[in-house]
Amino acid sequence: MRVGVLTGGGDCPGLNAALRAVTKTLILQHNSEVVGIRDGYHGLISRNIQSLSYQDVSGILTRGGTILGASNKANPFNYHPSGGADVSAKAVKTYRDLDLDALVAIGGDGTMSIANRLSDLGLNIVGVPKTIDNDLVGTDRTFGFDTAVSIATEAIDRIHTTAQSHHRVMIVETMGRYSGWIALHAGTASGADVILIPEVEYDVEAVAEVCEEREQGGQRFTIIAIAEGAKPIGGERAVRERIEASTDPVRLGGIGRVLAEQLKDEINSEVRTTILGHMQRGGTPTSYDRNLATIFGTRAATLVAEQHYDVMVALQGNTFTQVPLSDVADNIRNVPLDDPLIQAARQVGTSLGVSDFDREVETAPSSAE
Ligand code: F6P
Repeated sequence: MRVGVLTGGGDCPGLNAALRAVTKTLILQHNSEVVGIRDGYHGLISRNIQSLSYQDVSGILTRGGTILGASNKANPFNYHPSGGADVSAKAVKTYRDLDLDALVAIGGDGTMSIANRLSDLGLNIVGVPKTIDNDLVGTDRTFGFDTAVSIATEAIDRIHTTAQSHHRVMIVETMGRYSGWIALHAGTASGADVILIPEVEYDVEAVAEVCEEREQGGQRFTIIAIAEGAKPIGGERAVRERIEASTDPVRLGGIGRVLAEQLKDEINSEVRTTILGHMQRGGTPTSYDRNLATIFGTRAATLVAEQHYDVMVALQGNTFTQVPLSDVADNIRNVPLDDPLIQAARQVGTSLGVSDFDREVETAPSSAE
């Protein structure tokens, strides 16, 4: 077999581990040839490729980023270097010209949505779920998430000591787009006093009340973990910029600063904001992400060998399985409000930014609009 592999969307720790797993399994177990497609779907459109040998993927397990390059601006159905044109026929032609039997697409929801449409055009595709956001439908975990949570947890731990020294309210903004997985997991792990996620619209007065109560009660600092997609009740999400070439043009960011401004009028303490940004996506993956990427990659290679296409490998509970690409496309997975970590955070007194959370549980949106 001759199999293509690409890394689409934003990068995340574990991509190289997945590339290594796909390539080594195809070469060692299935006597296949592997073709690396550079810069996500760009490489498929413009035939920018490299062969991947066993040696090419040796020694990359621990490296962040992706040796193939990635892009979240390479949608063949809306290709901006060609003025937003549908150039999917070029992608199909490259696949045919290269005589590929299948393509392994490693990516997030944008990559899977494109993969689903390309599979309708006759390409044999197996998807591998990656993203720090952990927001792909059909899988409980994506690789990259565990590393992002570790980085955000360490950052909040460090913010803790400086918050204590200066008796300040410290806001830490995480990534995550329209879901609050990173803020919830890092916030709970680091003992944040308030965790604000997109799934629960926050009430500024309730957040201010927590800060004031802590100040008056002698715990003269407050740590607030806020997801970039969070928004106040009746308010807007903070949009950093729009990138039209992207499958999802909206780039969120800055809600931490908005919250700081909102709080300044309500409390006496000083407020500072730290936006963690792309630091959450860089560097070496945790052991969990290396192993998850390795299992996902080997399973994707096996599915290709079995000619089991148009699916994405997935982890559901303790079971590795696969789900149809069509289930994953054009969808995202929010934090369910009965998630055990939400329940646990509340039990230890963490505020979700609403004084009457139970009432909010009934009315909160179940997915991003
Ligand atoms: O999807 C991963 C992610 O890091 C999001 O958490 C974030 O909103 C977005 O990508 C940032 O995109 P970009 O790298 O294009 O700024």
